[in-house]
Amino acid sequence: MSTDEQAKPAKATVSGDSIRRAAQALRAGRLVVFPTETVYGLGGDATNGDAVASIYAAKGRPNFNPLISHVSNIDKAAELGVFNDAATALATAFWPGPLTLVVPRTENSPIAQLTTAGLDTIAIRVPVHPVAQALLKEAGIPLAAPSANVSGRISPTRAEHVTGLMGENVAMILDGGPCEVGLESTIVLCVDGGPRVLRPGGISQESLEAIIGKSLSADVEPEDQVIAPGQLVSHYAPNALLRLNATRVEPGEGLLAFGANLPANADHANATCNLSISGDLLEAGANLFDCLHELDRANLATIAVMPIPETGLGIAINDRLRRAAAPRD
Ligand code: TXA
Ligand code: MG
Repeated sequence: MSTDEQAKPAKATVSGDSIRRAAQALRAGRLVVFPTETVYGLGGDATNGDAVASIYAAKGRPNFNPLISHVSNIDKAAELGVFNDAATALATAFWPGPLTLVVPRTENSPIAQLTTAGLDTIAIRVPVHPVAQALLKEAGIPLAAPSANVSGRISPTRAEHVTGLMGENVAMILDGGPCEVGLESTIVLCVDGGPRVLRPGGISQESLEAIIGKSLSADVEPEDQVIAPGQLVSHYAPNALLRLNATRVEPGEGLLAFGANLPANADHANATCNLSISGDLLEAGANLFDCLHELDRANLATIAVMPIPETGLGIAINDRLRRAAAPRD
């Protein structure tokens, strides 16, 4: 390790004015790169589907994996997720800090469906970094933030590692110096059946076990190593079957539409949800999981899905639709 890497992280030099401008941009639906103790995050308003869609777009080669919602304290976290005893114990012990808890979403959660990729669980984290804390408090909204790297690149632990992300929606990069932990947060799933580590990270297994009072490693089975649930082939599946690239609607089907040129028999669809009447892929991404939930409430056997262009966010949308349409066990 070079002396540079061993150097103490620079004190946050971000001014109060920058924090205020960044918070304002976030509330207006724009994106801000901000430091946390683990890695730099690309943050956007977690309650705003359009802002979240632009996070995926900014990362390039987008993939709708569920994102972590960042909040400033445990009380704010409790508004978003349902904490069982293990989750409460871990949150009390390690927050603020490099721990992410995956818990069931609260019933009236304000978090956008796209943030949690349509899942009924939510990943929540309370970072300890002073700039992240100041930003969360000033913005007053939960921030969805994946690591601020272009897809497939190494996670950034310094502001200067954040390159290629200054798209039109990225308003600011807050430079808080090198990240102290430099490794993403440990993710622990806390739902019925006991806590399980989904991703090793900034908090060690031993530290977690000391709080839980039992071995966690024994619980980790190979399939749990699938860190992102979005990597499973059949996932995000609604109850209805999906028929992709539909050019007509068959009797009894629902319609997941895109654009204004609807397919033959569209007016006979039992239920319709249009991802974007104007054919805007960003809007379509923001609406995808909401639409699937909405159509599922209509108890359809099959949903006809119009073709979506395989460009930009369309790649992520089609990826999710293919998974949702994949054969199920
Ligand atoms: O340290 C960190 O966690 C950084 C900083 C910015 O906070 N963030 C980060 O986010 O690493 P990202 O998007 O690169 O990784 C989030 C991980 C993904 O592996 C995702 O699958 C998982 O969290 N995740 C999110 N929601 C989940 C859920 N409901 N169930 C299971 N896994 C989930
Ligand atoms: Mg990442």
